[in-house]
Order: sequence, then structure tokens, then C-alpha cells
Amino acid sequence: MKSRSEAVSIVGMGYVGLCTAATFASRGIRTVGVDIDEARVEQIRKGKAPLHEPQLDTLLKHAVKSKLLEATSDISSANDTDMTFLTVGTPSQQDGSIDLSYIKNATEDLGNVLRGKRGYHLVVVKSTVVPGTTNGTVKRFLEQSSGKNVGSALGLCANPEFLKEGTAINDALHPDKIVIGSNDMKSANRLTRLYRKFYGPKLPPVILTSPEAAELVKYASNAFLATKVSFINTVANIAQQIPNVDVGTIAEAIGLDPRIGSLFLKAGPGYGGSCFHKDLQALINYSQNNGYDPTLFRATEETNEQQANKVVDMAETLLGSLSNKKVVVLGLAFKKDTDDIREASSLRVISQLKKKGAHVIAFDPMAIANTKKQLADQISYADDPHSVLKGADCAIIMTEWDEFRKLKPKDFQPYMKTPNIVDARRIYDPKEFSRLNYVAIGLGASR
Ligand code: UDX
Repeated sequence: MKSRSEAVSIVGMGYVGLCTAATFASRGIRTVGVDIDEARVEQIRKGKAPLHEPQLDTLLKHAVKSKLLEATSDISSANDTDMTFLTVGTPSQQDGSIDLSYIKNATEDLGNVLRGKRGYHLVVVKSTVVPGTTNGTVKRFLEQSSGKNVGSALGLCANPEFLKEGTAINDALHPDKIVIGSNDMKSANRLTRLYRKFYGPKLPPVILTSPEAAELVKYASNAFLATKVSFINTVANIAQQIPNVDVGTIAEAIGLDPRIGSLFLKAGPGYGGSCFHKDLQALINYSQNNGYDPTLFRATEETNEQQANKVVDMAETLLGSLSNKKVVVLGLAFKKDTDDIREASSLRVISQLKKKGAHVIAFDPMAIANTKKQLADQISYADDPHSVLKGADCAIIMTEWDEFRKLKPKDFQPYMKTPNIVDARRIYDPKEFSRLNYVAIGLGASR
């Protein structure tokens, strides 16, 4: 028989909420997924993920079939569960600060529901929020709407997630740590108990700390990773000026030092995705408002912006001028195996190419539909990598798709007007491509 303490509700069936719900249910935890979007709820009920994430559809189908996952637009269902995770979005405002309106609405709705509840209920903030939000805005809204105080009848924790798109299910099933920020042991113990049930003997290290510290862990993690990418891109740009130097070798060598580590040292066109830029901006804004200007993180962001110009400069150097040239962008997604183009470096590159008068035509195995929603007919689109290259003056590799990796010089040369290749993802062997006009980020000229 399942213990009552295992029932959880999750408010916000976006990327994080849905992956969390599907994995909870896959481990036998009764889960209620709540979202205000009725169409989304309907889709989840059918066991179909409303977004692309490997393994998610399979888990979702099982979860719905086994009735361990239920989806609803009615937040009062949270009343029948023991804890509620808030996984609503925290987008950026104009000035970079986070927009807490979804958090406020969800907390208020939940508080109204919990007003009539007898017994303890734990509220867990999983959304990425700046330090002080859980103990500030969330606590205030929760207490006001529920008429209860956090402590006795209500528990409140911050519990950030570290899921990567494309591997989110695996990340949720095998995290390197769990961070729980709480004000009291009762709430911390309840949440730890849930995770103990989830992970059994494979429970990862649990960091028990304050809500503020838990909130900062998430930002520090993304700021570090983003800085690591901007770091290697900076080294790449230096390496590129030096004959016989390839940044790949530099990354391999420095990565062997355990203090540095080999991951996140792939030079490229700059980071994208829904988190890094948004979280860096929120952290910078938050810190500046507290009277400290985090120069390093501003440089991380600036370096990332400039990296797109670097890619365009490389194309311009090959072509002389970009005006009226047919430039092919191979890859639109912010990384491979996703249809997500949020903050993708391809968009920054396309915008620069357009400014310089190029005719841009793009191909991506998955992200064309999303790009069309954003760029419409500002650029042209093709159905496959060969037709896109016909008559092209230059091709720029923007996403490291496996299907692009397989392409050989013969897949470019016969189709293109001039075989100019800018490999912003460094996916080709420079020797193999040396008979074309091949340049790559971080690759110095060979003598
Ligand atoms: C990131 C964090 O990794 C995750 O922990 C957090 O919860 C959300 O943000 P995600 O946005 O899915 O995850 O993508 P990630 O795989 O981290 O890549 C981010 C960007 O950095 C991509 O554009 C990627 O191409 C780029 N990147 C990554 C590099 O350019 N070089 C690298 O070595 C690694």
C-alpha cells in the first residue's frame, strides 16, 4: 500500500515540471501535474509530451497508464497531496531582473486552496529564483492567501533543479546532488524523505542549507558553466591567431588537470538556451541592486555576445563582403537534439549576417518550425542539407547535429558556388576539409 506522504503536486507543467512529474511517477510516487493551459493538460492526459525531450514520452505514457500521474488545470487537487512543487517559469524583464508574476500567481492560488486544508502541507520552490524570493515573496503570498504561518501548518523549502535539455530525464534520475534550503528541520526532513523514497540506496549527496543559499547554488552553478564556455571561447579566439594551434588540444591538455576538468570546454559560437543568459542577467541585476557589480559575469555575457560577431567576421574574411552573398546556416537549435532556439547563437549570427546584406538560408533537422515562428520570412529555409547548399557562397555550422558531423567535403563542394566553410562547432577534421576554404573557431592557420 502506498503511504499518503508520497503524494505530490507540481504546479507548472513546463519543461522542469513535466520532467520532474514523469520521473516521480516512474518511481511509484503519486503525482498530480497542474497547469493553467487546458490544451497542455489534455495532451499530458493522453500521455504525450507537449515538448521535445528524449525518454519523456515513454515515461509519460507509463505514468498516465499506471494512474500514478494525473494532469489537471484545477489547482485545488493540490489539497489531496502532501507537498506542492512550484515549477512555473521565471522569465526576464526588460532590465534583466526576474519576472516573479507566475510565481506570485501560483503561490496565491495554492495558498487559497490550502486555506481549507487540515494537516501539514509542504511547499517547495523548484523554479529558479534569486536569493530571498522563497523567504520573501513566496512566503508572504503563501501566508496571506492561506491565512496560515510557515512553520507549523505549512512547510517551505527551496529546492533548485539542474536539468539539461536533451538529458533531463537522465539528470533527474541520476543527479549529482540534491540541494534543500529550509528554515526548519520538519520541512527539510519531509523533502529528504521523499527523495529517499525516490532514489533508495542511490540517494545522491543532500546539501541541507538555508533557502537563500539553495537559491544561490543554482545561479552560481549556471554562472560557472557559462563562464567556463566564455573562457574557452576567449582562449579559442587567441588560439585562432596563432599558426599551428588548435584550441581542442589546449582544452584537452588543461582539462586533464582535475582542478579544471574536461567538461564544458568546447569552444563554439557562444552559449544559448533558456537558462544561461537569463540567469546571468538575473544574477547581475540582483547583485548590482545589492551594491556589488559582478564584473566577471558581465564579461562572461559580453564575451558570449561577441562570439557571434566573431563567427560572422570569419565568414566576411572568407568572402570579402557579405553583401548579396548566399550564406547557409546549418543548425538553428541552441545545441543538438533539441528544437529549442531560445537565445541560440544562430539567431545572433543571422541578425549580423542580415545587417551585412547577406541572403540567409537555413536548415535544421528539428528547429525550423520554432525559427519560423520567430523570424518568419526574414530568412529562407530548406528541407535538407544538400538542397540548402545549392549555389551557396558560404556555409556556417552553428549546431553540432550528428547528421552534420557525418557530412564529407563531397557533400559541400559540388553543391556550393564557392566551398567556404565556417565551422563554428568544430565538428570536422581540418585535414580532411583542407581542400575546401575551411576555417574553424579556435583553429590557427596551418603552416
Ligand atoms: C543548462 C545547465 O547545464 C543546466 O544545469 C541548467 O539547469 C539549465 O541550463 P541547458 O541550457 O540545457 O542546461 O544546456 P547545456 O547543455 O548546459 O548547454 C548550454 C549552452 O552552452 C549550449 O548552447 C551549448 O552549446 C553551450 N556549450 C556547452 C558550449 O558552447 N560549450 C560547452 O563545452 C558546453
